[in-house]
Amino acid sequence: MNNIQDQENLNKKIVLLRLDLNVPIKDGIITDSTRIDKILPVIEFLLKKKSKIVVISHVGRPKGKVNKDLSLKPICENLEQKINQKIKLIKEDIFKLKKGDLFTDSKHQIVFLENIRFYKEEEKNDLNFSKHLASLADLFVNDAFSCSHRAHASVSKITEFLPSFAGLQLETEINALKKVTTEIKKPITCIIGGSKISTKIGIIKNLIPKFDNIIIVGGMANNILNYKGNSIGKSIKENNCETIIDDIFKTSKNHSCSIIYPEDVMVGKTMKDKSKIKELNEIANDDLILDIGPKTIKKINDIIETSETVLWNGPAGYFENPNFANGTYEIAKKIIKKNKNNLIYSVAGGGDTIAFLNQVNALDDFNFVSTAGGAFLEYLEGKELPGIKALN
Ligand code: 3PG
Ligand code: MG
Repeated sequence: MNNIQDQENLNKKIVLLRLDLNVPIKDGIITDSTRIDKILPVIEFLLKKKSKIVVISHVGRPKGKVNKDLSLKPICENLEQKINQKIKLIKEDIFKLKKGDLFTDSKHQIVFLENIRFYKEEEKNDLNFSKHLASLADLFVNDAFSCSHRAHASVSKITEFLPSFAGLQLETEINALKKVTTEIKKPITCIIGGSKISTKIGIIKNLIPKFDNIIIVGGMANNILNYKGNSIGKSIKENNCETIIDDIFKTSKNHSCSIIYPEDVMVGKTMKDKSKIKELNEIANDDLILDIGPKTIKKINDIIETSETVLWNGPAGYFENPNFANGTYEIAKKIIKKNKNNLIYSVAGGGDTIAFLNQVNALDDFNFVSTAGGAFLEYLEGKELPGIKALN
């Protein structure tokens, strides 16, 4: 893998820079900008080298259609303030753009292409789209480790058409995760939560041989509860996961890895509701499971207590509503307490997890914090991520 910071001749070069600026945005306002802060070093590096920067990023999952609510505009504005420099957001159809159209006035050293997932070609890893993107620049930099598990055009295919380099944050993340996977101390506990069930549920089986405990919370836990015969009301779940879950429990027996899932939950009738504790047999048809209950918190804390290493991806509940933030908060508190006494090695990852940790001012209380969620888990699985493979 070639790193961009080893490159000398970047003066006036147009750099296509893939970033993951998929930050939480509510009513047009960024609620957590940690992912933006993390890529400031690569921006500052390229500015200093007098490169011209074309940023490619995505927000959300617009599925190949223009969606005004998922514009990169608020992100551009946030970055403009952070680096004290004007940024042009190019909204024109990318297919109509030519290299000469990008930097037409000397005011701008950075331009943004609008949300790359507005183009259906992106997620298809489309060859012509990648070729066209490549024609806009002189070289490509991937500083989006957290998207590198996606074989998408602006992450993977594009590297076939431009000299391609790893960015500073991507290198930092890989080095840290390499260390985690090679120097790890047992017992190891992995906590998996969040709402992207389809991204994560298939990974668990492959993680089982590597961990002593896997704690499943958040959206995915609903699938497990349902599989075990509990009603989950209106809660989110993924369809057709029974075989995967069967496999998870069978594999866990063969590898003496404990799978832990909620024993009680906090529910509401809507996402904005107050929270109410419920036993698993009390969940009504119109309930939404939005957090773990106190018995579950106690159980998780006992497991963390006996662990030497804990890797955490994905919140335990819908923490955006403070009524459902307690589970996530208690997990964080327990890990941080052990970490302060040097009794545990802790890594946390994922967009929502870091947003939560930032909210409670705890980003520095973990040994390492990764911007990546899905990519972090796939890396732990031992997979070569498509975006990384493409750089090698
Ligand atoms: C993330 O937030 O994990 C990355 O931006 C990837 O998003 P995706 O799961 O929609 O591909
Ligand atoms: Mg995310």
